[in-house]
Amino acid sequence: MNDLILQTEGLTKRYGRRLVVDRLSLTVQQGDIFGFLGQNGAGKSTVLRMALGLVRPTSGRALLFGHDMSRHSLRVLGHVGALVEAPAFYGNFSGFDNLRILAAMSGGANRKRIEETLALVDLLPRAADPVSTYSHGMRQRLGIAQALLPNPQFIILDEPTDGLDPQGIREVRLLLPRLRDELGLTILLCSHLLSEVERVCNRVANIDGGRLLYQGTTGNLIGQDKMVRMTVDPLEEAYQLLIADPTLSVSRNGSQSLYVKMPDARIPHVNATLVEHGIRVTELAVERATLEEVFLTLTTTM
Ligand SMILES: Nc1ncnc2c1ncn2[C@@H]1O[C@H](COP(=O)(O)OP(=O)(O)O)[C@@H](O)[C@H]1O
Ligand SMILES: [Mg+2]
Repeated sequence: MNDLILQTEGLTKRYGRRLVVDRLSLTVQQGDIFGFLGQNGAGKSTVLRMALGLVRPTSGRALLFGHDMSRHSLRVLGHVGALVEAPAFYGNFSGFDNLRILAAMSGGANRKRIEETLALVDLLPRAADPVSTYSHGMRQRLGIAQALLPNPQFIILDEPTDGLDPQGIREVRLLLPRLRDELGLTILLCSHLLSEVERVCNRVANIDGGRLLYQGTTGNLIGQDKMVRMTVDPLEEAYQLLIADPTLSVSRNGSQSLYVKMPDARIPHVNATLVEHGIRVTELAVERATLEEVFLTLTTTM
């Protein structure tokens, strides 16, 4: 099968006059753990619904395994698992029985397959307990198990860690690379949390107001520029001097330091400029920029 798992081409959705997704072109490749980022209301879930053929695009198209989802969704949906909203389970039934019931609705699954799937998400020891006794994190993992049950090649997880405590978030974060490696899965992880995406995803797309701000590898994005912390005196003069340079992204942090995002090669030049203007540079430290910092500068300069 094709290396392109999901491709959207100029994907657009309007609800009434409201433009919710604006000419979005995304590419998810085989083996990706693809992070789909954006604040609440950015349009992420709408994109996923179009990708699953649940919502019809106003224009453009979503291709899943090369098939246009507004026309051939049934042909490919068997290869996709999805957790699109917080999953609903029967609290008085066990995790095992819940999966059995859900599987029965789509052709059934045998005991072995259900147990295998529960083992993948580390729920086998609790398989016989009623879901009402599960933590929120365990329910989310049961939701992921449900998505995995038909043995898909691709899973779409919409905010799988929403509302989870740090421990629950950590469990999901550890689970995803394991699923990719053990099952050869491709994963689309939708989240409004940069910190989550940055840690597990090899590629990311960031949207805002339905428009693509960035798409590319996580490593490249972080590696593009360095975040340099400069302790300078006087700070205000240094700040005014550097923000006047449109090629730099400068922010103030506390009263002591400036944070300047720039390519390696610019660092000596910036340092020299400050010194020429009689500013004392007492400390200059290169810090690895997090995705969050990179996106903050991206969104505020666009
Ligand atoms: N069925 C719908 N009818 C009208 N507006 C909708 C519908 N679904 C989503 N929207 C609007 O589209 C925007 C994007 O929503 P959504 O895709 O859920 O964003 P996200 O998942 O990024 O939080 C929101 O402003 C939301 O209110
Ligand atoms: Mg959403």
